[in-house]
Amino acid sequence: AIDISKLRSQTGYITLDYGFKNTGSTSSAITFLDGEKGILRYRGYPIEQLAEKAEFLEVAFLIIYGELPTKEEYEEFKDAIVHHTLVHEDMKHFLEAYPRGAHPMGVAASMVCSLSTFYPESQDPNRPKKAIDLTIHRLLAKLPTIAAWSHKFSKRHPVVYPNNKYDYTENFLYMMFSMPTEEYEPDPVVAKALNKLLILHADHEQNCSASTVRIVGSSQANLYASVAAGVTALWGPLHGGANQAVIEMLENIRKDGGDTDKWIAKAKDKEDPFRLMGFGHRVYKNFDPRATIIKKAADDVLDKLGVVDPVLDIAKKLEKVALEDEYFVKRGLYPNVDFYSGIIYRALGIPTEMFTVMFALGRLPGWIGQWKEMIENGEPIGRPRQVYKGANKRDYVPIENR
Ligand code: ACO
Repeated sequence: AIDISKLRSQTGYITLDYGFKNTGSTSSAITFLDGEKGILRYRGYPIEQLAEKAEFLEVAFLIIYGELPTKEEYEEFKDAIVHHTLVHEDMKHFLEAYPRGAHPMGVAASMVCSLSTFYPESQDPNRPKKAIDLTIHRLLAKLPTIAAWSHKFSKRHPVVYPNNKYDYTENFLYMMFSMPTEEYEPDPVVAKALNKLLILHADHEQNCSASTVRIVGSSQANLYASVAAGVTALWGPLHGGANQAVIEMLENIRKDGGDTDKWIAKAKDKEDPFRLMGFGHRVYKNFDPRATIIKKAADDVLDKLGVVDPVLDIAKKLEKVALEDEYFVKRGLYPNVDFYSGIIYRALGIPTEMFTVMFALGRLPGWIGQWKEMIENGEPIGRPRQVYKGANKRDYVPIENR
């Protein structure tokens, strides 16, 4: 193991690596991935086994605390989370101030950051273990409520309070889809599919949002603020925002007559900024194991729910054409986790602008686990170097002489 306290700041040569393509920022025991072989494991457990057999909160515990929980530990963990699912009434007034149609990722990020003001003990940099655990329980408990409320408010529908007779995923669905005028009972097929999707998104080592959480947390910013930064990093279309962009792209292709060759040509044209959304990955250059699971789940879920979605056919056609095309093969561009996830979310009735929020719900344990590991490692403040290429020393010129 590396003794971080022995690492001194280095002067002299600086490694310039735009986008940190080959620069490690930490050592981590959370997620193992092998981009060449398409392997992904959380704490050693293969993603395929977890997605098939585990519950999302069980995986959250594994990622955050390092081991699968025993029965007692799991009951205690779930119980602690259930007791915090309500969001402070005053936070509802914030929601009223957002404009109609406000993007729920913007709402979620600011609401998560606001939690730190309601629970100021989270700002104590000494962080006793009990306070950290409480913050972890609150975050896991409240993000689904915040997410569902942001959706309800964007529609100007009344918010639905959590009902703790339901489990984690069911409760979220209940808050999303219940109306005072209509009974809603979460469908077990939908809840199961959601459980799987959340597990598949739960961590992915030093991706853009996780690195953001770690670097923000390295200044001793509190966990809510660090996670809020993760939410905003995830929002971008090159990261989690890709799932919304994929469906919008597939819809555009459908409306355009479904000519996938035309869109593939556009993606290959270096003069055209268009990229095939949901294709390519910084570390997977062979295939993304999550995409393999999600593709199968998309077929299963649509079949079980009796949903026919024409964009699924377009997605499959696009994938087939791209996988046979030299441009994509040569660059190792394959469907990533976001390529099929949107199709499942749509079949589950989740509106498109909520897709990236769904990703955030799944990624939350990863952000927490990465933050906690960084704190426990005693890592120094993150502070990259630069190579200066601006003007040399010059003298101030008064404004009338410029
Ligand atoms: N469509 C067309 N060409 C692409 C695509 C794409 N989706 N992705 C990469 N390329 C090309 C690039 O133009 C570049 O070509 P060149 O070598 O001729 O210049 C080459 O492939 C390498 O691409 P980079 O952008 O250098 O790869 P990088 O590792 O920096 O980016 C990224 C990875 C951001 C995921 C990229 O593939 C992309 O933009 N994909 C689309 C957005 C997307 O799906 N993002 C979700 C990622 S998964 C996640 O975050 C959960």
